Parts: sequence; C-alpha cells; structure tokens
Amino acid sequence: MKALILGGKGQLGTTLTQMVPSSIACRSLDLPEIDVTDAKAVEAVVGDEKPDVIINASAYTAVDRAEEEVDLAFAVNAAGPKNIARAAKQTGSRLIHVSTDYVFDGTACTPYLPEAPCSPLGVYGESKRQGEINVLDAVDDPVIIRTSWLYSQYGNNFVLTMLRLMKERDEIKVVADQVGSPTWATTLAKAIWKIVIKTDLKGIFHWADAGVASWYDFAVAITEEALACDLIGKPIPIHPITTAEYPTLTTRPAYSVLNCTASWREIGVRPVQWRVALRHMLETIEGSNQGDMNTGK
Ligand SMILES: NC(=O)c1ccc[n+]([C@@H]2O[C@H](COP(=O)([O-])OP(=O)(O)OC[C@H]3O[C@@H](n4cnc5c(N)ncnc54)[C@H](OP(=O)(O)O)[C@@H]3O)[C@@H](O)[C@H]2O)c1
Repeated sequence: MKALILGGKGQLGTTLTQMVPSSIACRSLDLPEIDVTDAKAVEAVVGDEKPDVIINASAYTAVDRAEEEVDLAFAVNAAGPKNIARAAKQTGSRLIHVSTDYVFDGTACTPYLPEAPCSPLGVYGESKRQGEINVLDAVDDPVIIRTSWLYSQYGNNFVLTMLRLMKERDEIKVVADQVGSPTWATTLAKAIWKIVIKTDLKGIFHWADAGVASWYDFAVAITEEALACDLIGKPIPIHPITTAEYPTLTTRPAYSVLNCTASWREIGVRPVQWRVALRHMLETIEGSNQGDMNTGK
C-alpha cells in the first residue's frame, strides 16, 4: 500500500511519518515541497504519486492569529482540503482528513458525538469546518478524524510551552474554566494508521485520549509528571484563573470534549487515559530520567 502524508513536518505529520507501518510505502511532504493551497501543485503531486491513501495533516493552526489572517486560514484549512480531495478523486485515492474539536461551540455539557451540529466560534474553527464540508462534497467515502488539545515532542504545543515557562518563571496562571481532552499525537497517529489498514472505515470519527481536564488540571499534571521525570528541578505553583482574566483574540469553546466511544470501538485501538499518555510523552524527552533509562545512559 502507498500512503502520502501532507503536512508531514507538523507535530502530527512528524509523528505519523515516524510510525509508518512496515507494510506501507509512505511519502511525507510539507511546505515548501507542496503548498496545499495551490490546486495545480496538489494535482501534480497526487497524480505522480498515485497513493492508495492520502493523510491530510496540513493545517493553519494559529487559533488567535487566524482572526487577523482570515484569508490564509481559509486558504489552508478550507481550500487546501478541497484541492486535496479533488486530486484524490482523480486518482481514486482514499482520503483521511484531520479536523478539530473547535468545529463545536462548547455550549454542550455532555461529550460531542460525531454527528452533533457544528457551530464554530472563531475563524480557525470556521475554516476547519469548511474544510470538512469541502472534503465531504468532493469525495465519496472520506474519513474525517477530529481530535482535540493535541501535543507532542515536536512543534508548538501546550506541554512544551508549559515546560519552558516552568524553567523561566516562579509561578504560572492557567485558565481553569475551559475543559477538554489532551491528546498525544502518538496515540492519534496509531489510530490513523489503524484506519489506513482498515480500508472499509469511512465517515466522521472522534479521537482523543480518554478523560477530561481543564487547562489548569493539565498544567498541574505537567508539573507533577515533569518533576517525576527530572525534567524540572522544583515544583512550580500553578494558579487557576478564569477565561475572562486571560483575554485572547478568539473565543475558545468552554466545553470541548469529544465523544470517542464509537470511534475507539470501530477503529479498534484501546484508548489511553490522557495523564498516562502525558507521562509516556515526557519520558521520551531527552533529559528525563526515563529517557536515560530507555537509552541505557
Ligand atoms: N494542535 C492542536 O491542538 C489541534 C487540536 C485539534 C485538532 N488539530 C488538528 O490536527 C491536525 C494536525 O495539527 P498539528 O498540531 O500537527 O498542526 P501543525 O503542527 O501546525 O502542523 C501543520 C503543518 O501543516 C503545514 N502547512 C501549513 N500551511 C501549509 C500549506 N499551505 N501547504 C502545506 N502544508 C502547510 C505547517 O507548516 P508551517 O509550520 O510551515 O506553517 C505544518 O507543518 C490539523 O488538522 C489541526 O487542525 C490540532
């Protein structure tokens, strides 16, 4: 089987690229080799590769900056998936497109099912929702996999930002009235490769690590686990604040929990509790005591 990953240098794309199953020949591309907003370039690359499956991990993910860079956010997150889907249709390639919990407005109080109505709050969520619609319009049986609060050892994410702040500051204030499910890119990548192999899967899936946390809970867990892994030298006080005390350009959903039960069953990968996944991720960082043990240093 031949796979093509787009957005291969992002945090999910890098993780997917490192975890390619041995039975799959995979090409992984990102800017500048491929710009998904360029329809002709996408058509040419997909036409040359003729992959059995395309995984679209490319995205514009700067949630606040998107409010000021509306055209760019829509070009990458809405027109990009349309270009990829049209090219996939021409070559008969299966398309797995990655989307987000931010397609929902966060006013629910129970986890969002894949079929729940979408109502994004900001430009990033709107552009990602339009990308989903474009994919569903252009190809017959795509897979759309929504995830939430993604982090990894690579790129920009909450865990790496917190680790940096914990070294720079004496205390940190973190929003406690937004909840969601932190998700390690490695567990998501495992699920995506399982979807690739299960060629009959189609439709919208929700994938997040199990359990729910506020950003504050997540930050406290990062301090405790980082301390246990020797990544920081002393515990850093974390103080809960409200969203109103930390104004941002865009409004984020207050309740961003995806109902993943059906997806976990259909995909056939056992969910990992988010804090267990966090510990595993921190253990992979150079300098952690577990990392030293793993590498035999
Ligand atoms: N991060 C989260 O918390 C989160 C939460 C829920 C869902 N998601 C979704 O999960 C997926 C993966 O996210 P991620 O965190 O891995 O994102 P990421 O780290 O920002 O990676 C996205 C990649 O796409 C590339 N890209 C941007 N514009 C492009 C273009 N025009 N053509 C080709 N590639 C382009 C980026 O390159 P540059 O870095 O050079 O721009 C980057 O390498 C996305 O669909 C995202 O919406 C993310």
